[in-house]
Amino acid sequence: MSKAKEEMWGEVDGYITATIPHNDSALKAAIEANHAAGLPAIDVSAPQGKLLHLLALITGARRVLEIGTLGGYSTIWLARALAADGTVVTLEFSPKHAEVARKNLDAAGVGSKVEIRVGAAADSLEQLVRDGQGPFDLIFIDADKKNNPVYVQWALKLARRGTVIVVDNVIRDGKVVEENSGNADIEGTRAMFELVGREPRVTATAIQTVGGKGYDGFVIAVVTGD
Ligand code: SAH
Ligand code: DHB
Ligand code: MG
Repeated sequence: MSKAKEEMWGEVDGYITATIPHNDSALKAAIEANHAAGLPAIDVSAPQGKLLHLLALITGARRVLEIGTLGGYSTIWLARALAADGTVVTLEFSPKHAEVARKNLDAAGVGSKVEIRVGAAADSLEQLVRDGQGPFDLIFIDADKKNNPVYVQWALKLARRGTVIVVDNVIRDGKVVEENSGNADIEGTRAMFELVGREPRVTATAIQTVGGKGYDGFVIAVVTGD
């Protein structure tokens, strides 16, 4: 991808967020705290975070499941869209990331709405099913990409008709079209595409995105059958 184009995508994200309110002080503080703690800057962008927020508003979500918390930037966007009694369960492998996220969520005033479960997401998902948790209204998958098919399968167990499932980073600069890439993340995402494509219970597409975080995209699926 040419440098000039990437610069323009970042500039346009700047225009979008300068004209339509996006990041307020709490979201900015979360990004700063992540940086100070040495977390990688791989949060969703502001317009992507707001898209998640909009999806939660559109669906009237009360129960949200997130796989991959990092510092809780996307979690804040999701939690803020919920009714007073709404909750987010967010799954994170790294105790350090979870600790940073806990502080960011509390500082943003949404701490009481969010449960962070620390551990490998596949184990936490199994535990959620065992606990009889769910169904969730909106599920955002954004952890280790090699496990994307595993996460979609658990998401389906924790869903109902109407549940919206969003998977982040499914395009990765177009690398998703590479067969036998030898990259476990790309292979995982491709296996997820095939699973979603074959799965009769969902209606889905993928949307390519450009912006300050480069060229990537989301899979968006709605559970339409059981
Ligand atoms: N959703 C966040 C970004 C998440 S980055 C945002 O947009 O703000 C991906 C996160 O997934 C990282 O914090 C990483 O530690 C976590 N992760 C990686 N492998 C995992 C696993 N097996 N189980 C749970 N979390 C995992
Ligand atoms: C990576 C992970 C993400 O969730 C993301 O949005 C961007 C990058 C990564 O692991 O590189
Ligand atoms: Mg992501």
